[in-house]
Amino acid sequence: MEAAGPAVRRLADWSAADLADLAEEYGTPLYVTDLDRVRENAERLRAAFDVGDTEVRYAVKAHTGRAVLETVREAGLGAECASAGEVVRALDAGYDAVQYTAVNPPAEDLDIVLDRWRDGATVTVVAGAHDTVARLRERGFDGQLAIRVNPGVGAGHHEKVTTGGHAKFGVPYDRAADLVADARADFDVVGIHAHAGSGISGDDLDAHRELVSRMGELARAVGPLEFVDVGGGFGVPYHEDESPLDLAAVAEATREALGPVDATLAVEPGRYLVADAGVLLTRVNTVKAVEDADASGAVPVVAGVDAGMTTLLRPAMYDAYHAIRNLTEERPERPVTVAGPVCETADLFCEERPMPAPRRGDLLAIGNAGAYGYEMASTYNSRPRPAEVVRDGDGTRLARERETLADLTALEVER
Ligand code: LLP
Repeated sequence: MEAAGPAVRRLADWSAADLADLAEEYGTPLYVTDLDRVRENAERLRAAFDVGDTEVRYAVKAHTGRAVLETVREAGLGAECASAGEVVRALDAGYDAVQYTAVNPPAEDLDIVLDRWRDGATVTVVAGAHDTVARLRERGFDGQLAIRVNPGVGAGHHEKVTTGGHAKFGVPYDRAADLVADARADFDVVGIHAHAGSGISGDDLDAHRELVSRMGELARAVGPLEFVDVGGGFGVPYHEDESPLDLAAVAEATREALGPVDATLAVEPGRYLVADAGVLLTRVNTVKAVEDADASGAVPVVAGVDAGMTTLLRPAMYDAYHAIRNLTEERPERPVTVAGPVCETADLFCEERPMPAPRRGDLLAIGNAGAYGYEMASTYNSRPRPAEVVRDGDGTRLARERETLADLTALEVER
């Protein structure tokens, strides 16, 4: 069994020399993912939730790279997928059973997933609307079905990722029992499902508990099921001084709130597995002083870097905090704004944050970039997506090539 490692890996714990070597060899911007840390995170989850008694399914949307999927599968965790693409990638990475949580699924997604199911893959489809159930019925699906419930309570690090109470997600709580009963006629109804949101901290535990207790009540009302899935969303400390979530306490609170049910508890964390297993390396190309010195005599600077909101979207989209470390040299601190190359004001990694004054050519590392980093990268501004390397034991290898300018136009059709 793998060791579970420390509860958190901070940006300061990465070897500056190793990261500098990787930037030299592969260029920047570069995602670095440490598979050993993914294994440690998987092990900590397994230990806290007592796998065997609980099912832990990795929400693959956090990082769908092949190496990560294989690592999580080998660590004994299941896979929760949000699209046909994720289902196909998980199956291709060696999973023979996956959960497909279908949110307003396009017809093509349903067709692709059901083709895989007909070919022998074990797929549990989680339907969050009466319409989705009807469309599965129309397509002749009679396999494992779970009903996603809107638990009426949500939580998360930002309103944009608080799903639990939003009408978009799940069947209204008080209609769920009827839908389960109705679906039993045509499907193998194996579970009920709800998800509060993403980035749940210790402060959100009351909301989590409330969600779980409602799911326990529903489970007791609908009779025997294989699982009650209470979602993922376990937060990680993005700030250097933030404490990690006490996973054992979350697991205990979850069990207690669920109460006695004739079903297995299931959880589906994404971020927790991969966030602190990844850093983003970026090189400073422009430095300028912006204003007169502040009261302490320090002049704020803007440091322009080669990664931007197209490489790591989270700061622009959610005002998310990511630690930033200068790997080149320790220098006196001053207020630094780290800005990308995209023509949008949102393209900032931090604003006037005290840190060693960067110089042109310095290498910066951005922490906790392993979850929803590469996954949310885009080619806006015709900027190719970065490369990714994975570290595994003592070795490092290229996991994903850097996109090229030719890739950007490869699908264009000439007239
Ligand atoms: N289960 C369901 C049904 C979900 O929708 C999600 C995330 C998860 C599990 C996993 O949540 P996690 O454990 O990773 O927090 N892009 C945002 C996060 C969006 C999460 C969407 N759903 C971010 O960068 O913070």
